[in-house]
Amino acid sequence: MILPNYSEAKKRTKNVTLREEYNLDDSMKTIGVGKTYFIKTYGCQMNEHDTENLKAMLEEMSFSEADDYKNSDLIILNTCSIRENAHNKAFGMLGRLKHLKEERPDIIVGLCGCMAQEEGVVNRLLEKYKWVNFVFGTHNIHRLPYILDESLKSKHLEIEVYSKEGNIVEGIPVKREHSYKAYVNIMYGCDKFCTYCIVPFTRGKQRSRDKDDIIKEVIELKNNGCMEVTLLGQNVNAYGKDLEIEYGMEDLLRDVALTGIPRVRFMTSHPWDFTDSMIEVISKYDNIMPSIHLPVQSGSSRILKLMGRRYTKEDYLKLFNTIKDKIRNVSISTDIIVGFPGETEEDFQDTLDLVEKCRYDNAFTFIFSKREGTAACRLEDNVDITEKEERLYRLNEMVNKYFLENNKKLIGEVVPVLVEGMASGRKAGLYGYTDTNKLINFDGDESLVGQIVNVKVEEAKTWSLDGKYIG
Ligand code: SAH
Ligand code: SF4
Ligand code: F3S
Repeated sequence: MILPNYSEAKKRTKNVTLREEYNLDDSMKTIGVGKTYFIKTYGCQMNEHDTENLKAMLEEMSFSEADDYKNSDLIILNTCSIRENAHNKAFGMLGRLKHLKEERPDIIVGLCGCMAQEEGVVNRLLEKYKWVNFVFGTHNIHRLPYILDESLKSKHLEIEVYSKEGNIVEGIPVKREHSYKAYVNIMYGCDKFCTYCIVPFTRGKQRSRDKDDIIKEVIELKNNGCMEVTLLGQNVNAYGKDLEIEYGMEDLLRDVALTGIPRVRFMTSHPWDFTDSMIEVISKYDNIMPSIHLPVQSGSSRILKLMGRRYTKEDYLKLFNTIKDKIRNVSISTDIIVGFPGETEEDFQDTLDLVEKCRYDNAFTFIFSKREGTAACRLEDNVDITEKEERLYRLNEMVNKYFLENNKKLIGEVVPVLVEGMASGRKAGLYGYTDTNKLINFDGDESLVGQIVNVKVEEAKTWSLDGKYIG
């Protein structure tokens, strides 16, 4: 049993990250014959992509995917720790699985992802959820076949969670959710330690993937007809800072654009590392999409300092305006936290003021959630929850107003859309995303799915557009 340890997880070493190749022992390849699996994924794109790897590993072991957890032999929860409600959802699901296991004692239940890296969670599992079969962390997803095999043999809770990141493992198989768009990891972990955030604990130190591995993956995707890649990392702008060669995000963006893949996106950008040369590269290549997620978190410089974000409201606005000036037609989205410990009405007004200035195209807004082990967890918090809820409500009213306003500006324009599928709830409707990452619904034939087409915007709503297929 290898248990998570927060004080280890917090340490950062200068060790160079090594690379190893994934390899599945032949003896593992028949373990799942005749059995089904189901993976429930919580959290961010990073987790969604990890799930694509987990699925492919299970299928190499001969498991096949079930369409519902209720009729599956193996159920894995790939969890998220970012806020309390992510925890609650996973524990709620564990409650349902407990009942299912009472009816069908043979089912195997595993838990992985960010919650597995938390000492408190694993202790709770050991005390109250002994019936879970196995737990593994974010640093050893490549070990799934071996951990699963162990737990099948031992018949009691197997825990293998490393607190320190190991090598970068290349060659893990992947079962992609879509053929026309794909996530590509460019880096793992985060060294920013924003005071509210659990990610540097659950995902370890920042490690950049080798550029050649990334480019090779993008070229392969392109050759298989993929239209769009999203380069993934907790803070992609810091890409390369831990490498021994002089090669940063601007170089990577250029080289990925030069592969000729039709669309390149990336997320998430921390304002701190956003350089002018990156902006230049984004504006130069047409296949780098004019859509940037630029989390601000707060408009109050005082709160930003307490959050450890290392920029002021003014620094952020300067960067925001440079991006708007230099990248034609760019859309910018953000993340905002309200109710950080000690946030006053005046601080909150600074956030509203910033939103008024930035008029975001999209924004994800959250109430601060205390995460065990983080620096902000120890700050005194004297703002009560109804006040925080009210601030969230006021903030949402304002951001929604600007979403609609921005969308309305597009009425009458013809926009390029990557068609993703048939819209649910509409009989003959397709949906897709514009270059600026806006959801658009329009009528058209299913054969257009996976293509980039022109659509004329006819109607604007807060969270989507309606349009007409042009060709
Ligand atoms: N790496 C990304 C953020 C990943 S987490 C970045 O730095 O931009 C996604 C968002 O969740 C964050 O931007 C933040 O707004 C929110 N978040 C993170 N920790 C939180 C917490 N403890 N409480 C509330 N929201 C949080
Ligand atoms: Fe969390 Fe900050 Fe790292 Fe983003 S940059 S993952 S918010 S610590
Ligand atoms: Fe959640 Fe982990 Fe992503 S905490 S947001 S799944 S990195």
